[in-house]
Amino acid sequence: MASAHFNHRKYQPVEPVTGFTRTWPDRRVTEAPIWASVDLRDGNQALLEPMNVAQKQRLWHLLVKLGIKEIEIGFPSASQPDYDFTRWLIEENQIPDDVRVQVLVQAREELIAKTFEALKGVKQAVVHVYNSTSRIQRERVFGMDRDAIKSIAVQGAGWVKEYAEKYPDTDWTFQYSPESFTSTEVDYAVEVCDAVMAVWQPTPEKRCILNLPTTVEVGPPNHFADQVEYFCQHLNNRDSAIISVHTHNDRGGAVASAELALMAGADRVEGTLLGNGERTGNMDIVTLAINLYSQGVDPQLDLSNPDEIIQTCTECTGLPIHPRHPWIGELVYTAFSGSHQDAIRKSLKQQHEDEPWQVAYLPIDPADLGRDYQAVIRVNSQSGKGGMTFLLERDFGISIPRWLQLELAPLVQKKSEEQGGELDSQVIHDLLIKHFVQDTSPVSLEGYRIERSGDNETLSADIQVEGESLSIAGKGKGAMAAFINAWQTRTGLAIHVVDYAEHAMGEGSDVAAAAYVQLNVDGQRVSGMAVDADTVSASLKAVVSGLNRSGQATQLTDSAARQQA
Ligand code: KIV
Ligand code: ZN
Repeated sequence: MASAHFNHRKYQPVEPVTGFTRTWPDRRVTEAPIWASVDLRDGNQALLEPMNVAQKQRLWHLLVKLGIKEIEIGFPSASQPDYDFTRWLIEENQIPDDVRVQVLVQAREELIAKTFEALKGVKQAVVHVYNSTSRIQRERVFGMDRDAIKSIAVQGAGWVKEYAEKYPDTDWTFQYSPESFTSTEVDYAVEVCDAVMAVWQPTPEKRCILNLPTTVEVGPPNHFADQVEYFCQHLNNRDSAIISVHTHNDRGGAVASAELALMAGADRVEGTLLGNGERTGNMDIVTLAINLYSQGVDPQLDLSNPDEIIQTCTECTGLPIHPRHPWIGELVYTAFSGSHQDAIRKSLKQQHEDEPWQVAYLPIDPADLGRDYQAVIRVNSQSGKGGMTFLLERDFGISIPRWLQLELAPLVQKKSEEQGGELDSQVIHDLLIKHFVQDTSPVSLEGYRIERSGDNETLSADIQVEGESLSIAGKGKGAMAAFINAWQTRTGLAIHVVDYAEHAMGEGSDVAAAAYVQLNVDGQRVSGMAVDADTVSASLKAVVSGLNRSGQATQLTDSAARQQA
């Protein structure tokens, strides 16, 4: 039973939006929206310690570098640092010609006057005026009815227009936000925005911006999309407005809300890099942009170096990024699970440059974001064969056969449990060599000669057994068969090859070979491996490794002694 204070009956669901034709579920986003960053305003306002001048400048440079063309730089009428920053940008000629700065202001004349003063001399700018329109704000905060709240918006719009006319050298764009739009009756939001547009008289050639915020995200993303589509369908002169959305993440749906809103007709999205912002944050521009990118849409932002974004944002805001942050967190292209590793390894092998990306568990190519495959497969105690096999191949050019993978995997898992974490490829390599390459003790192969007659090979081998030299000779089809025959003849052991694999390692003059053999020695299965200059030497040494590991190798001298006696 739920405890007394955890009571869902306290809450009401959002009202469904009716009176419009819902088309957005069938639409696709095929081009990037107009991106507008509010990092330096909404993001900055939300910080425990607001950014200092140097941090703001650094973040500004990053936003410009990424290709964001509309940047809200602050609330200059309410904050002296924001005023000073605005002046720095203008006086130091920091604003590229294709970038529009934006400033926020409440619908109050003295603040609007100061805002235009702060922007004096700017080539182009967006003046963003807002007031709260939701029922709760009207009734419980301001104690005003619909008409009174609408008048605030209309009055604010009038002052914005009036002051803009005093600065005719600037190319002004006007923006209005019905703050708390998601909790505002949608027909009333349209009514207020129509009234604001009636003041500004925008045209399709010179549009205003109507920005619809989920100031607080109170409903699911599909509900917001319904509100946006209703708004677009009912607004007078839709062609003369850029419809913008500004989503917050209270329910964790800021990105989804913005993405569905684009399907529902929005043209522009406001957000922050990595989603910093009030409470749970603003919509994360990086996530939405890469969402679009992963659908084959050019995001019109340069996100090829997310590490730079992470470093700059975390250093400017003092907020860390989660290692599982969508698309760019440290762990998001890492697979620990064995079956995932296996699937990634297999798909990567088959992926060709000239075909669409088709790699299991990797929705995009990590290389696009400057991430290499180093991080993709990591091995811990949860990993199976796939990860360690991938690392051995990638870092050492060693492709161990499946039966050896099965034998190595438990050793890797045990080591990882002992170490309590991730194993790097060197540790896995050392385990492989330590356990399966035993070609020097107690028996080692010092040299061999092969003679061929017809289909058969005769092989004579010089062997050292614990410091004692001896020669053995045998016949067979191929060098390995002849070598095993020599052992059998000398020791009387029943030795069969159950499985065998070999491959070249390296290229050109560095070429070497690895060989793997699984033997059955008197009914006992045992594997051996060796690396040598060529495949014949490697295969013979792999047999020596297997026999040494079987514990039966010293039978060579025992039987030699027996034969001599
Ligand atoms: O979240 C919000 O409603 C805002 C407005 C000022 C657009 O930040
Ligand atoms: Zn906001």
